[in-house]
Amino acid sequence: MNELYAMIERHAGLYYDQDSPEIPDAEYDALVRELSELEHDYPQYARKDFLTHKVGGKPSRLFAPVVHEMPMLSLDNVFGFEELVKFFAGKSQGSGFLCEMKIDGLAVSLVYEDGIFVRGATRGDGRTGEDVTENLRAIVPEKLKNPPAGRVEVRGEVLMTWERFNAINSLCIERGEKPFANPRNAAAGTLRQKDSKIVAERGLDVFVYYLIDAEKFGIRSQYDSLLWLKAKGLPIQDVWKYCGTLGEVGKFIAHWQDGRRTLGYVTDGVVVKLDDMALWHSLGTTSHAPRWAIAYKYPPEEARTRITDIRVSVGRTGVLTPIAILEPVSVAGTTVQRASLHNADYIAQKDIRVGDFVSVRKAAEIIPEIVSVDKSARTGQESPYTMPSKCPACGSEVVKLPEEAALRCPNRASCPAQLAESLKYFASRDGMNIKGIGQSLAEKLIASGKIHSLSDIYTLTLEDWTSLDKIDAKTAENISAQLEASKSRPLANLVTALGIPYVGTNTASLLVNNFGSLDSLREASQEDIAAIDGVGPVIAESVHDFFRNGENLRLIDDFRAMGFRLSEDIRPKNNALSGKSFVFTGTLSMTREEASELVKAHGGRVSGSVSTKTSYLVAGENGGSKLAKAEKLGVKVLSEQEFLDMISA
Ligand code: IVH
Repeated sequence: MNELYAMIERHAGLYYDQDSPEIPDAEYDALVRELSELEHDYPQYARKDFLTHKVGGKPSRLFAPVVHEMPMLSLDNVFGFEELVKFFAGKSQGSGFLCEMKIDGLAVSLVYEDGIFVRGATRGDGRTGEDVTENLRAIVPEKLKNPPAGRVEVRGEVLMTWERFNAINSLCIERGEKPFANPRNAAAGTLRQKDSKIVAERGLDVFVYYLIDAEKFGIRSQYDSLLWLKAKGLPIQDVWKYCGTLGEVGKFIAHWQDGRRTLGYVTDGVVVKLDDMALWHSLGTTSHAPRWAIAYKYPPEEARTRITDIRVSVGRTGVLTPIAILEPVSVAGTTVQRASLHNADYIAQKDIRVGDFVSVRKAAEIIPEIVSVDKSARTGQESPYTMPSKCPACGSEVVKLPEEAALRCPNRASCPAQLAESLKYFASRDGMNIKGIGQSLAEKLIASGKIHSLSDIYTLTLEDWTSLDKIDAKTAENISAQLEASKSRPLANLVTALGIPYVGTNTASLLVNNFGSLDSLREASQEDIAAIDGVGPVIAESVHDFFRNGENLRLIDDFRAMGFRLSEDIRPKNNALSGKSFVFTGTLSMTREEASELVKAHGGRVSGSVSTKTSYLVAGENGGSKLAKAEKLGVKVLSEQEFLDMISA
């Protein structure tokens, strides 16, 4: 269970916070299901406050927070018809069912006042979302037709069609930027753009499916509310149906399993709602989902094809990844020609051979996977695969580190594949954010023989750039300007860009916020680094080792000589909280790390438990035992807002 908690936490972070999932949604769902079965069987080990018991996602700091008048809930899932029948057992009381496609997008709340669109917000954590009104203006109708007086709130899903998605990804690839993993991520990334012009350009769509307080308008069923929404000029989906019985629901589900391919946008199931709204009130909701609606999830898509070859790619840290080259096959509406085989153990475990017929799966993700090998189709001509003993890019003898499944090329300093990947990473958005340096340019640069270290790109002349294929004078000037600008990016970007193993953007910020300069970080002992809240011993060792490597130190000296920004002002902003000690409890709109950083930045201290020494307990929803203790000890309790007011003064 602990393993599952950790995995789910990580993958939820990748999905919700970074819009960059590593595993298909179906695989994530399977992890959640496995955990929920274990929690059911072993309630004594269940973490009641875990994210699977809340609505996913948390509001970011980029947009103003919006507190939803009525929480935006999620839906529970079922994966088969029997489960669906069980879910509705004893609930329908003669009501029919309203079936709608489950759109794989982002939930939003739209508010109209006297028929005018006044506010749009994301779901966030279900209670507090982000104000994305300006971005939504390009997508939702500005005015309702025949509007009722006063407030109308509707909920719906923002999505990107396959057509827009493919167009935008082709552009990304041309520009050397990382393409979006799937339309949902593209929609999420677009909706959270700071520049609403980009949102309008990219082209999102919205479908609404939920009218809040429908009774206020004399509506008693989901069927009538969909018609009402449509009559007001709001976009609703084309595919939905009233079903008198669960048998009909089953037919709808079966019909649209393949039919949904023609819809032009991603749907991953069917939402089945009790039609009669009186039941919505009598059945109510759990902490995170209504009891009157359920999501039936379709199984992920698979297709059969053949492995024609296995090739190896070399990543930024030298890891060799085997990749299956497939006979092109269409899965979930796109053509699949490659699948990651991860590592030698994976190939051995599944006994994957060149020439094998395999089943490949591709949910809405970019990287397809091999689900199973059809061993009965073997002819004897298939050849087992052995990983190369030499790096395919530089010819170095590969090494296998103990306790690692992966093989690595040890030639960090001059393997062209590693250099190209490091350069790409260095230039990426989270790193030095140098637009234009993507896969193809990185490879060209390395092949030109002009780059032996990351700092070398800063020494190239305009002539060096224009001597590369497809780089004209204007592009060269552009890149030079970008490179110059990158020197003054925040230090956390540089620390990320260095590519220290295990150090991503979050850890980089923690390191910078604690040490303030690259020099102090370099001089820090392993213990000093490990003492930071949120930095474990493995990361600390990795960071410490990085600064003990001559090559790395030379690189930093180069950056210093080139005038890079190597420090940040980390003095407390004001000392409003000096001498005060804080404890946090319950659900807040920020993470605990963010809360602690705020306290520390204003000169205060944070502790994990309430005692007589505690100055304030900041309590969100569901405070629990800490709240009780604070009240008993007479410790002053603050709301999150009161806390924020203390430091904004
Ligand atoms: S109704 C009270 N209808 O799926 C909850 N949700 O996995 C009302 N979704 O949070 C939700 N299509 O963002 C509803 N036709 C549909 C939907 C739909 C997609 C989303 C929605 C929900 C999530 C749950």
